[in-house]
Amino acid sequence: MELIRLQKYIAESGITSRRKAEELIRCGRVKVNGLAVTEMGVKINPEADEIEVDGTLIKPEAKKYYIMLNKPAGYITTTSDDFDRPTVMELTSDVHARIYPVGRLDYDTQGLLLLSNDGNFANAIMHPGGNLKKTYIANVKGLISISAIKKLKSGVDIGDYFTRPAEAEIISGTERESTVKITIGEGRKRQVRRMLEAVGYPVLRLKRVQIGAVMLGNLPEGKWRHLKAAEIDLLTKGKAGK
Ligand code: URA
Repeated sequence: MELIRLQKYIAESGITSRRKAEELIRCGRVKVNGLAVTEMGVKINPEADEIEVDGTLIKPEAKKYYIMLNKPAGYITTTSDDFDRPTVMELTSDVHARIYPVGRLDYDTQGLLLLSNDGNFANAIMHPGGNLKKTYIANVKGLISISAIKKLKSGVDIGDYFTRPAEAEIISGTERESTVKITIGEGRKRQVRRMLEAVGYPVLRLKRVQIGAVMLGNLPEGKWRHLKAAEIDLLTKGKAGK
């Protein structure tokens, strides 16, 4: 039997991503054969060793799930909410595995959200150096100017951060409202909303339509589907963690 790293084993159990598993280990919440392990790099024998997280014995889940959801506005992308707001888990309750959101969308943002029970997949997607581009369609207030688009393309100050150059183009526009397509390779909190606000055009609606080469397509709002093998490959090829 091949020995595997403790954090990889925990990630494969579907509890959390590998990075979060490392945190659990560091905090002393993981035991191997009854003894707390807090240093990184410990390898275990999945067939012989007993691994506990917070006192519960864990086993890797055999079947891996990779799902895309067309998230409606008004749902949060966590597995539970202190304020009792609807979570995306309610829309995927017919998936009989402990999947969780891979990445996040704001409560009021809709569109493409990935979910999985594979911690290594989550790790590969969320890795900051992973450089997966994400594309959004934003409806903004007013007729957006060419100079605002130019600013988005060269980078804007969003308060605590200066954004890297983005791809941005006008899809349509009237005096009342414009539609903008914007692609970014980073993911600060409410980044697209703050970028458009910074150039003078508050967002009315925001929808993510693409992650890497994977597109939302015509999946109806509130519905999910399994990712195709080719889509999983496109998302993880050459990424750390897989
Ligand atoms: N940018 C935002 O402003 N919101 C999201 O949900 C995602 C990207």
